[in-house]
Amino acid sequence: MRQDHLVTSKQLSRADVEAVLDRAAEIDADPGAVADRHAGSLLGLLFFEPSTRTKMSFEAAIKRLGGDTVDMGAVDASSVTKGESLADTVRVAAGYADALVLRHPRQGAATMADEFVDVPLINAGDGAGHHPSQTLLDLYTIRENAGLDDLTIGIMGDLKYGRTVHSLSYALTNFEADQHFISPESLQLPREVVYDLHLEGATVREHEGYEAILPSLDVLYVTRIQRERFPDENEYQQVAGEYRIDADALEAAEDDLTVMHPLPRVDEIAPDVDDTDHAAYFEQAHNGVPVRMALLDMLLGDGDE
Ligand code: NCD
Repeated sequence: MRQDHLVTSKQLSRADVEAVLDRAAEIDADPGAVADRHAGSLLGLLFFEPSTRTKMSFEAAIKRLGGDTVDMGAVDASSVTKGESLADTVRVAAGYADALVLRHPRQGAATMADEFVDVPLINAGDGAGHHPSQTLLDLYTIRENAGLDDLTIGIMGDLKYGRTVHSLSYALTNFEADQHFISPESLQLPREVVYDLHLEGATVREHEGYEAILPSLDVLYVTRIQRERFPDENEYQQVAGEYRIDADALEAAEDDLTVMHPLPRVDEIAPDVDDTDHAAYFEQAHNGVPVRMALLDMLLGDGDE
């Protein structure tokens, strides 16, 4: 991995992924060992879109490494409202922090911002583009629950606008996973993503329903319909609520099926799934801390040691 940024999961080789996951497992087993490792380091948080898990887990991660955050805060309380460009905002923030985490509604924002800063930059979501640190915690959760070898995964929901899906599907090509994409026709994977996956040697199988494929899956990765990205609310209403998994539906699955979701969920996974052995989505969210600790540790370098 280029040691100074994480902009898309396309840049991650299998060895890169394994290095982060192995480090995360080490940290998870003994978090106290790294408690002061990055004392004095500051992580800049630039969130131009809402976030709960990503922002809080990056914040927890840097603090558990002994560092702290500097936070731009809400967009409407920042100089963005005065017309400042993203390039200027990130250039200034890079002077205040040792690394930056950027979430922005515009696809490609992180790639652009990366050209203006000389500190490590992590893309925490660029519109319908990518969300590679989510992918690392997704892969960590898959490895813990199902293993990354000989994996058959179903990825379901909003495959068009879901950035976690784009990042995950690219990263899974490193592991030759059997990937099944389940969505209404209008929310299929963007054709450029399908093209790229083919180039990486992946077989892309697309389905409109999950019933036929569910019994052969090791992992079912469910996503929220990304309402905020629809140009037309009517279009959203046509697909809202169409893909819903509940405990009854999962009777047809293998006992060891792992159900994941990047969260927040709306109504894609019924609450009765939470009490089944399939549910791994809260564990997945908690894995955000050790995985982001590992990522920050690697991007910030050796620190004081
Ligand atoms: C995801 C995102 O922001 O892309 N959330 C997250 O980071 N866990 C998924 C979503 O918002 O649906």
